[in-house]
Amino acid sequence: MAVIRSVIRGVGAYLPKRILTNAELAKTVDTTDEWIVERTGIRARHIAADGEYTSDLGAHAARQALVRAGIDPVEIDLVICATATPDRTFPATAVRIQNMLGVTKGAAFDVQAVCSGFVYAMATADAFLRTGQFKRAIVIGAETFSRILDWEDRTTCVLFGDGAGAVVLEAQPQTGGRNDRGILSTTIRSDGRYEDLLYVDGGPSTTKTVGHLRMNGREVFRHAVQKISGVIEETLVTTGYAANEIDLFVPHQANKRILDGIAKKLGIPENRIVVTLAEHGNTSAASIPLALNHAFERHLLGEGKLVLMESMGGGFTWGAVLARW
Ligand code: UT7
Repeated sequence: MAVIRSVIRGVGAYLPKRILTNAELAKTVDTTDEWIVERTGIRARHIAADGEYTSDLGAHAARQALVRAGIDPVEIDLVICATATPDRTFPATAVRIQNMLGVTKGAAFDVQAVCSGFVYAMATADAFLRTGQFKRAIVIGAETFSRILDWEDRTTCVLFGDGAGAVVLEAQPQTGGRNDRGILSTTIRSDGRYEDLLYVDGGPSTTKTVGHLRMNGREVFRHAVQKISGVIEETLVTTGYAANEIDLFVPHQANKRILDGIAKKLGIPENRIVVTLAEHGNTSAASIPLALNHAFERHLLGEGKLVLMESMGGGFTWGAVLARW
């Protein structure tokens, strides 16, 4: 039976020029390169320049994705930006990016699910494309977490960084069979009981300030392994694929030990997991498209590859997307 699927036509990414290494951070907070590498796998993070905003990062990534897709911005009718660090409280960063790209039709809006933002945004775009409301979407994950970090808190400031990634999706008829290209399944979940384990202690309605990121790292770690493994298993059961049929796992990049824990639990070979966090730390909603871009540039994402993306973040929110490239 013919179905409409959201086929990934292009991917792009952008990292700000300034690189902040662990050794540099160790000069300002009580930490060491050894501690950060051993506990997280992170070696450096990128920091946006003064006057460089989330929308700038997102627009760079989106432009690259559009060029690679061979799609003109005038053909895009949906722009979704996943971000927890918008340029302004409103309007949506997606609307600014829409304007920067020269997209003038359809709709643009932000999705806020912190580190799960890209998975949520992909699920949202896919739902719109499959119902025929829009034809071509650009889905962006863009963050400037450097602006919400408490740079005196060594338990959080060493973990995060700035960056952006984007994909172009196009609604295309497919057969409905196992070899279909495009997004094959999306699963999004949240549980607000865990709000206080990872949050920002400010906001327009509470403190009238932006606030700083606060996290109970140990607890988040424990939940991350459980919840991500759970949603991967759920995706495999509902789609009928076995873990060894997945060509590439493209996870949210929070901590190398979390990725190792999931791989061990589900028996996923290490060489099928894309790991980029050494280079840029946890970039929240940007981390999955940054990792997709990394894989694409290393020719790991040829047509027909089966790709599983997954994430977990503040809220808690978590989810997974299975797609055939
Ligand atoms: O993207 C959203 C999801 N976020 C995550 O998935 C993050 C999940 N959590 C983690 O990645 C880890 O829990 C952390 C990397 C945040 C922390 O690693 P951990 O192995 O859980 O360490 P810990 O919090 O249990 O702390 C161990 C020790 C503590 O000292 P004491 O109490 O044992 O004396 C910390 O104070 O390490 C200390 N510590 C540090 N030492 C040097 C914490 N941060 C640092 C630091 N440098 N930057």
